[in-house]
Amino acid sequence: MDNYAVVGNPIEHSLSPRIHGLFAQQTGETFRYERRLAPLDGFVESVELFAAGGARGFNVTVPFKTQAHDWVDELDDEARAAGAVNTVVLEDGKSLGCNTDGIGLVRDLLHNQGLQIQGKQVLLLGAGGAVLGVIRRLLAENPARLVIANRTVSKALTLAVRLAEEYAEVGCEITGVGLGEVAGFYDLVINGTSAGLQGTGDLIDASVVRQAVCYDMVYGSSTPFTRWAAQAGAVRALDGLGMLVEQAAAAFYLWRGVHPETDQVLTELMRERAR
Ligand code: ATR
Repeated sequence: MDNYAVVGNPIEHSLSPRIHGLFAQQTGETFRYERRLAPLDGFVESVELFAAGGARGFNVTVPFKTQAHDWVDELDDEARAAGAVNTVVLEDGKSLGCNTDGIGLVRDLLHNQGLQIQGKQVLLLGAGGAVLGVIRRLLAENPARLVIANRTVSKALTLAVRLAEEYAEVGCEITGVGLGEVAGFYDLVINGTSAGLQGTGDLIDASVVRQAVCYDMVYGSSTPFTRWAAQAGAVRALDGLGMLVEQAAAAFYLWRGVHPETDQVLTELMRERAR
């Protein structure tokens, strides 16, 4: 039996085993997929033990994505650019680090939510690991303007300058600002901060989201950010469940060479959480 896992801390609430279980049912693939709690100071020991047991791969979640990037033997382009790994393929005694978060977000926005990024005004909240993991995929969809807003302004500015250089030919206006300075109107506002996990979700001025679709990269039937956005008058307030399913589907493809039908799985998970 091929073994896979999701490695994180905490890990008990991870939906990944359920998602990969549904993919396995749908595609007829057979394997084991477990949750692995790694000690906060013991990620490397934990995954080396798992790999030594003959595992075929694993997903990586908070707070280990950067450590996974440093641990693997090889990186794909996405993981190298993001400096973070969410999927590891173990093959012939070697580890390949990949990052499927960006493709997961973009697929959810375009295919599941029926949204457009091309030509749109996009506001991205945060400038940490979660944002680095998705920002290049977003830029590849050719938004007209991308504003990065962060509590620590210098991080937003540094990232914006770097990306503006990298994407000079794309014709997207890329700027960095502080959260308090965000003004104007946007088509799409994506929360990539970790602030909403316990907070109020109240990160920017409410007027900014009145014509926007708001998207939280965190999942949950309602998150502080989606609750705030809905109250502030956003056109739609979406959580990151679809992104979770899509990043998992891309990982499944890397491991098994089969791409599952994600819409069935997303519908099932939405039904389960509405119960
Ligand atoms: P992750 O890997 O989850 O992105 P991270 O790299 O530590 O974690 O980044 C966390 C992001 O959430 C950062 O953009 C952080 O802002 P700072 O760069 O100013 O630290 C943002 N963040 C965390 N707590 C926040 C809060 N209470 N209000 C606003 N932004 C917050």
